[in-house]
Amino acid sequence: MARRLVVTGGKGGTGKTTICANLGIALAKKNLRVLLVDFDLGLNNLDVAMGIEHKVVYDFVDVAEGRCRGAQALVQDAFEPTLFTMPSGHLAKRPISVDLANRVVSRLADSFDYILIDCPAGVDSGFRRAVGCANESIVVVTPHLAGIRDADKTVAMLDNAGMLSVNVVVNRVRGDLVAGGEMLSIFEVFSLLGHNSLGAIPELDDVNCCKRLKGKHNPFDILADNLHNGTKEMFDCVSQYNGLFGSLRRKLKRNV
Ligand SMILES: Nc1ncnc2c1ncn2[C@@H]1O[C@H](COP(=O)(O)OP(=O)(O)OP(=O)(O)O)[C@@H](O)[C@H]1O
Ligand SMILES: [Mg+2]
Repeated sequence: MARRLVVTGGKGGTGKTTICANLGIALAKKNLRVLLVDFDLGLNNLDVAMGIEHKVVYDFVDVAEGRCRGAQALVQDAFEPTLFTMPSGHLAKRPISVDLANRVVSRLADSFDYILIDCPAGVDSGFRRAVGCANESIVVVTPHLAGIRDADKTVAMLDNAGMLSVNVVVNRVRGDLVAGGEMLSIFEVFSLLGHNSLGAIPELDDVNCCKRLKGKHNPFDILADNLHNGTKEMFDCVSQYNGLFGSLRRKLKRNV
């Protein structure tokens, strides 16, 4: 039976879809069976993040409205054979209830180890539908006060929804700014939000999943390890910007 996690964050653009896609890839690289489901009906872009938009025939709404079976709406990843995406291409004719969405997801739960639900921004009906289909959660937050305030409210709602776990991921960490005291450190963000600290992702030049991140142990691999094995390793976004060479790197980064 799959672990079902909703990837949420309250605020728009914190990196929910990016984390969902890259975490899915990292888990599948461990030979785990992973399903990514796009719950951002109408403003979907998980298919684009995964580079499968040209392969989409059916989607989540087609399954919910009975035009096809769940398995027919799954698109297999080109690189990781155990990774599948259920996209969401169009708007539903009538609002899809939490119960109906839950049935769509539940029917697939036996075939996977992980189901990651890409939640839409905000805390309205789309959020409630996504949260209602999961029993664990990942809150993606950027290290800015406005974002942390929204994430804090989201965390409280997830607690109220009875989640088994609420895991925090700090995304888009600029190590140069943290080292210079101009950005909150991941540990400050974790202590402000409380709950389980799942990982840190730096600001990356290329988070495009189609190109896949190189390197044996990229930050998403660490995230996947922490989620799957319960480890507590954090990707070090800062130390390369400390000391004499670090201050040079900071200056160079500023000038690009
Ligand atoms: N760690 C990162 N480094 C650099 N760019 C990033 C990072 N994470 C996300 N981005 C970029 O930020 C933008 C928003 O990311 P994404 O679409 O994943 O956010 P989202 O929370 O899903 O947005 P929405 O609320 O609209 O669904 C994208 O252009 C993405 O490439
Ligand atoms: Mg998104």
